[in-house]
Amino acid sequence: MQTLHVDLAERSYPIFIGTGLTARADLLAAHIAGRQVAIVTNETVAPLYLSRLETTLSAFSTTSIVLPDGEAFKNWETLQLIFDELLKARHDRGTTVIALGGGVIGDMAGFAAACYQRGVNFIQIPTTLLSQVDSSVGGKTGINHPLGKNMVGAFYQPQAVLIDIESLNTLPARELSAGLAEVIKYGLICDEPFLGWLEDNMSALRGLDPAALSIAIERSCAAKARVVGADERESGVRATLNLGHTFGHAIETHQGYGVWLHGEAVAAGTVMALDMSCRLGWIGANERDRAVRLFLAAGLPVVPPLDMTPEHFLEHMAVDKKVLDGRLRLVLLRAIGEAVVTSDFPREILNATLSADYAARLNQL
Ligand code: NAD
Ligand code: GLY
Repeated sequence: MQTLHVDLAERSYPIFIGTGLTARADLLAAHIAGRQVAIVTNETVAPLYLSRLETTLSAFSTTSIVLPDGEAFKNWETLQLIFDELLKARHDRGTTVIALGGGVIGDMAGFAAACYQRGVNFIQIPTTLLSQVDSSVGGKTGINHPLGKNMVGAFYQPQAVLIDIESLNTLPARELSAGLAEVIKYGLICDEPFLGWLEDNMSALRGLDPAALSIAIERSCAAKARVVGADERESGVRATLNLGHTFGHAIETHQGYGVWLHGEAVAAGTVMALDMSCRLGWIGANERDRAVRLFLAAGLPVVPPLDMTPEHFLEHMAVDKKVLDGRLRLVLLRAIGEAVVTSDFPREILNATLSADYAARLNQL
C-alpha cells in the first residue's frame, strides 16, 4: 500500500492506494470518530461492493443509502434522499458519511456531508478510475444545475481517501477510458515526462495491469495533492486542473448530463484547448497531435459533437466557474507540461477553435 498526503494544515488527510483496501477495517476505523456511519452508494456499485464494506464496518452502526445511478441524478432531488435517510436513521453530528462509488457519488455524498447538520465527517472510497485520480481528492463537492455543471456545491475535504485498485476490475472499458482522460491531463498540465510513460504503458493500463494502474494512480494523486495543497479554493494554480473542462462542460451540458461521460467531454475539450494553444503559437502542431494520439490510444473521443455550433459553446461557456467579472478565462498550455489560466487571447482565435474541423484533421494524424 502507498500512502500520500494532502497537506492542508488542520484539514490534511491521507490517500491510501492499494489492492483489497476495502476490507481494511483498521484503515477506516482510524478515520471514523463516532459510532455511526452512513454509506452512500448507488444501484450499480451496491451489488458489487456494499456488503463487503458493511462487513468491514460491522463494529459501527451503519446505514446504507443506495441512490439511482447516473450523472442525470446528480441533483437536488437525489441529495434530498440522502438527508431523508440520515434523518430517518437519526444520524447525529458525530456521524461519518462514506462515499462508495464514482465521482457522482463522491461529489454528492461530500456535499451532503458538508451540509448535514452544518457539516459531518466524510471518507471517500472511489471506485472508478476517474474518481480515484481526480474527484475524490481535493474536496470539491456538489451537484449539477440544469443551466450548468457542478454549479452548486462546497469545498469540503474528506478525512481520508481509500483507493482500492481491485474495484477497477468490474469497471466497464468505456468508464476506464474516461478516467484516463484525467490521467493524461496531469501529464499535459504539469508532468511532461509522465506523458512518455503513458504512451509506453497505455495498453497495460487498458488491460488493467495492477502495477501500471498503481503507478498511474499514484502519480496522478501526487500531482493533484500538490496542486490542492498550494491552492485549496482555486484562487490560482488549481484552475489549471480544469484543462479542457470549460469546453468539456459545455459539451456535457449541451448533450444532456450523462450522454457524454465527463472524461469523454474532457478529452474532446482538451483537444480544443490544445488547438487554441497551438493557434496562439504556444505549442507546436506536432505536440498537439502527440496529445491527440494519446487520447485516441486511451479510447477517447477527440472530435467535439458535430451538432454543436460555436454559439452553443459560447452560450454554455458563459456560465463556467472560471468566468470572472464577465470575462471568460481558459486553461491553455504555454508548453506541454505547463498550463496557464488566461483571459488574454484574441476573440478570433477562440472563434477559430470553436469552428475548426476536428474530424478532418484526424485523417492527417
Ligand atoms: P460516475 O460516478 O457516474 O461512475 C461511472 C459509472 O461507473 C456509473 O455507472 C457507476 O455506477 C459505475 N461504477 C462505479 N464504480 C464501478 C465499479 N467499480 N465497477 C463497475 N461500475 C462502477 O462517473 P465518474 O467518471 O466516476 O465521475 C464523474 C463525475 O465526477 C462527474 O459528475 C464530474 O463532474 C465529477 N468530477 C468531480 C471532480 C471533483 O474534483 N470533485 C473532478 C472530476 C470529476
Ligand atoms: N477537478 C478539478 C479540481 O479538483 O480542481
